[in-house]
Amino acid sequence: MNNTELRSQALEVLVANHRDGYTLPAPGLYPFQWCWDSGPIALGWAAAGRFEEAWSELHRLFSAQWPTGMVPHIVFWQDSDRYFPGPEVWGTAHTPQTTGLTQPPLPVSAAARLFMQDPDRDRARDALVSLWPRLLSWLSWFERARSGPHGAVVAVHPWESGMDNSPSWDEPLAGVTEASEIPLARRDVETVAADERPSELEYRKYLGIVERLRAAGWDTERQPADSPFVVEDPCLTAVTARAAADLVEVVQVAEAEGADGLDAGEAERLAKSVLAGLEGLWDEDLGWYRPYDVLAGRPVGAAASTGLVALWAGVAPARVSRVVERLDAWGRLLPVAVATADPNGPGYDPIRYWRGPVWVLVNWLVADGLSRAGLAERAEALRVGTRALVEQGFSEYYDPRDGHGIGGHGFSWSAALTLAWLTT
Ligand code: GLC
Repeated sequence: MNNTELRSQALEVLVANHRDGYTLPAPGLYPFQWCWDSGPIALGWAAAGRFEEAWSELHRLFSAQWPTGMVPHIVFWQDSDRYFPGPEVWGTAHTPQTTGLTQPPLPVSAAARLFMQDPDRDRARDALVSLWPRLLSWLSWFERARSGPHGAVVAVHPWESGMDNSPSWDEPLAGVTEASEIPLARRDVETVAADERPSELEYRKYLGIVERLRAAGWDTERQPADSPFVVEDPCLTAVTARAAADLVEVVQVAEAEGADGLDAGEAERLAKSVLAGLEGLWDEDLGWYRPYDVLAGRPVGAAASTGLVALWAGVAPARVSRVVERLDAWGRLLPVAVATADPNGPGYDPIRYWRGPVWVLVNWLVADGLSRAGLAERAEALRVGTRALVEQGFSEYYDPRDGHGIGGHGFSWSAALTLAWLTT
């Protein structure tokens, strides 16, 4: 399929999923605004030349930011009976209604990129200046309220990693004794086959943690003290470090264009300290970044996507080479890259969500890390391989054995990254 055709199909998906100034990840399955999805989605709109929609995606998301700086992982802009757990289960006191958890701050990096790309320089400057305090206060909150023992960023719920049922979370989740007893009104398994989604016990524990944090009053300054799940997550950490570094980069350009009041000092400090925290998660024996279970006091899990996307932070080429060695070994077992979990590791499952399937977003983050480490050819090979997947349709994820699309369909970030990465 040629680029023009593929781009027009991708744009159709974004248009169909667009609501009042924001874009659903997938109608039916995810009927609200999701935090980290908004980053790639904004870049997709921008790549289609639709900067109004691109900026609005971010303005909408940040308008739901909490006073502490946390940006919630779902904003329930409209009612829907298509998703569980909805606002009544979360019971946060925030307006608009949101969850009380966050997700990796990709929207910050998206704001930096939009600023650089927008041909309307006045709009770009105004948008950056108005978003700036919000971007920075989110990153500062990560450092203030979510620093773990290595200085990496802590997740207090598997949902915060964006990689819900990754095998990386099996050990810490095994230590969670809270399993909700409320009737599970899951709607996801009506749209997607149950064997491609998290299990029932996982869901009960996810809700058990939500109930604990809710009982503690959703105090976003002290969630690590309130949650039975406290894990330093390489993905959250890498995305935070990169977000801070991206802000540092745009300041110079913005100031030269007359933007006032953007202080790069705080972003610069954060970029360094969070990157140092990420390095604290490097496991030399495994040759991989590994989550650290704070409550159990040990690193957890085999090589998986939670650590793989550390490449996005721009880590040292020597680290990247070790990671690539392992990806090569996976490549000898699986024709489609990149699996989200070690195919020889415990918990691997080629069709179950974050336990093995290939995700377009992960591939994009990894390809970017590869090219920053000087591995342009590998990055290009990953791009070409990913393009072949989306030609079959904009699925939520793909089977690493044969590349067929699974999970939700008409998935926004697969379409958005087709515009912003796969057809440029
Ligand atoms: C799932 C994914 C998460 C994503 C959300 C909306 O929960 O695991 O990463 O943000 O769906 O697409």
